[in-house]
Amino acid sequence: MEIKIDTRYPSIDDLRTRAQQKIPKFAFEYLDGGCNEDVNLHRNTSELREVQLKPNYLRDHHGSSLKTKLFGVEYDAPFGISPVGLQGLMWPNSPEILAKAAFDHNVPFILSTVTTTSIERAAEITEGKSWFQLYHPTENRLRDDIIKRAEAAECPVLVILCDVPTFGFRPRDVRNGLAMPPKLNLSNVLQVFGRPHWGLQTLKHGIPAFKVLEPYMPKGLDLNQLGKFMNDTFSGRLNEEKIKPIRDMWKGKLVLKGVASDYDAEEAIRLGIDGIIVSNHGGRQLDAGQSSIKPLATIAEKYGDQIEVMMDSGVRSGPDVARAMASGAKFTFMGRSFMYGVSALGKNGGNHTISLLKTELQQVMEQLNCEKTSDFKNHLIR
Ligand SMILES: Cc1cc2nc3c(=O)[nH]c(=O)nc-3n(C[C@H](O)[C@H](O)[C@H](O)COP(=O)(O)O)c2cc1C
Repeated sequence: MEIKIDTRYPSIDDLRTRAQQKIPKFAFEYLDGGCNEDVNLHRNTSELREVQLKPNYLRDHHGSSLKTKLFGVEYDAPFGISPVGLQGLMWPNSPEILAKAAFDHNVPFILSTVTTTSIERAAEITEGKSWFQLYHPTENRLRDDIIKRAEAAECPVLVILCDVPTFGFRPRDVRNGLAMPPKLNLSNVLQVFGRPHWGLQTLKHGIPAFKVLEPYMPKGLDLNQLGKFMNDTFSGRLNEEKIKPIRDMWKGKLVLKGVASDYDAEEAIRLGIDGIIVSNHGGRQLDAGQSSIKPLATIAEKYGDQIEVMMDSGVRSGPDVARAMASGAKFTFMGRSFMYGVSALGKNGGNHTISLLKTELQQVMEQLNCEKTSDFKNHLIR
């Protein structure tokens, strides 16, 4: 895929600033915020950036390749798109835009259970390459039905979550009365009027809806009923009893996302899971927890030869990807970086953001004298 960068936005920070100008405050704050006092949100990036790498300039160099194999598939870069809920609220059609960009660039796209396009549509756009993230349903019948849909759509990887045993306390969303579809109180209506392009695009594409869940939701729910439906339908606390039947049923690769401790990494291995994403949900669940880079190094060192170790949370640039990989991640994912890109640039946002990250990462590889992405770890300053 051709690398195409909009030169007005040569960093994720530039995209974030532009996104803030383009979308209503309630949508931007839902995307941008962490939980409680945002301590872990900021720590994710600041502690990741404490990782330093040393170059070997005088060694022979035979070219650098971003290509990285994961679960037997060769991707064109060692990063992918994390699952994000309510994407259509930030920008209409954003999951479709990102799925297409990921497909064109040959990197993984993970569809969230609670986003605004369906498993079947994501599979169509990516020709069956889209991964799927399952929020754990309370009822086995619903769980089995969603898993069968993912299987029928030929999803290669199912991602389950261990870091949402309860809701994250997010003061901005509480203040904004965040809901799906957006609550039309005076403040939110004024915010929409201040963002006419967003408003027009949203009108054109229709009010976003939970497309994965649509077949199971009674029609015409009001906001309170919708909240109750979600609470009754999902039960986020995972354990062996819940993971085992999924492992038995799912023939593809199974990934556990949200691992932040040796204990959970060991349990994942014991339960036959194929990969873990060391993640704190982008600092949206446990503000008093560690940044994602902290447990990564130990987990990768101890368990990296038994299970694929990936990482997300706080990654905002090519150098950040290199830092995470040098610290032991085989692959990285990003949530906000891509959503800032689409919120800022609409249909060009996916291609731009992936192009930018690929360009930055290629530069770091050449600067360090890495030929393969697995070489990053040889450059870590301990
Ligand atoms: C707005 C938003 C919504 C999210 N929704 C989900 C979700 O539905 N499922 C999920 O597994 N993770 C969800 N996450 C977490 C991301 O998958 C990912 O772990 C996180 O964004 C990584 O941190 P980063 O944004 O700093 O890259 C969400 C994150 C954000 C920012």
